[in-house]
Amino acid sequence: MDMGIKGRVALITGGSMGIGGAAAILLAQEGAHVVISARREKELAESAARIRAEAGVDDVLTISADCTKDEDVQNLVRRVVERHGKVDILVNSIGAAKAGHFLKLTDADWEQSLALKLMGQVRTARAVFPHMEKQGWGRIVNVIGTHARLAEAHAMPAGVANAGLLNFTRALAELGGPKGVLVNAVSPGTVNTARLKYLRDNGVEYDLKTITLGRFAEAVEIANAIVFLASERCTYMCGSVVSIDGGQIKTV
Ligand SMILES: NC(=O)c1ccc[n+]([C@@H]2O[C@H](COP(=O)([O-])OP(=O)(O)OC[C@H]3O[C@@H](n4cnc5c(N)ncnc54)[C@H](OP(=O)(O)O)[C@@H]3O)[C@@H](O)[C@H]2O)c1
Repeated sequence: MDMGIKGRVALITGGSMGIGGAAAILLAQEGAHVVISARREKELAESAARIRAEAGVDDVLTISADCTKDEDVQNLVRRVVERHGKVDILVNSIGAAKAGHFLKLTDADWEQSLALKLMGQVRTARAVFPHMEKQGWGRIVNVIGTHARLAEAHAMPAGVANAGLLNFTRALAELGGPKGVLVNAVSPGTVNTARLKYLRDNGVEYDLKTITLGRFAEAVEIANAIVFLASERCTYMCGSVVSIDGGQIKTV
């Protein structure tokens, strides 16, 4: 199936590893000009090498940026547009909110978590939105997470940020839809990435028995849905949040 992604310019924040890294590989395989961003240069270079090898492409741009800083985000989008003349797709896959016991999390922990997981996605979307609106086509895919709806005592900052992102996704979709900018989200359950180790090390407990499929997800399983939401095949989804949790959330 032709996804209509060939020639599109895709910016993937958090593209150096995990879900963002997997999405970048698949988007490059579909023919997108991929730009990956994160803070650490070494991990970005390693991800770019994987993308080149697995997608058989040369054209991968890496840009170091800290998405808690508006000037970094402005510079990031400016450089994408300078290089490619446009930005068609944004995948917002930055981590990571702090985990830990409520009484041990400080104001700074909460502020850093919301500054990245919630505001990082807000400010990146705000920076690309005018470009997409002007060209009358765009796809924004936010990576949220089941903690938006499944409250967990040791994952409060992630849960609060994710709940905010549900609202943000739907509200931005209302602005973008009439302009051809479709804003949607994926909401992964537990995914086998570096973040999972961090969450477990900080007291977040997982019971595989609560997951119908009896296992954690691999990053590529989330990336498959991201590619659809980023594609021309996605034409009538606007403010949708796609749960990819192996059957963990069972409420209707
Ligand atoms: N893994 C899970 O179980 C799970 C479940 C549900 C939702 N999610 C969500 O999925 C998204 C990706 O998670 P993941 O598991 O793929 O995480 P990951 O493997 O830890 O990757 C996180 C990415 O974000 C980047 N990042 C971190 N801080 C940043 C900052 N200040 N500015 C820019 N980039 C930054 C990291 O690179 P640098 O550190 O070099 O900046 C890295 O590329 C996150 O929003 C996470 O909350 C994950």
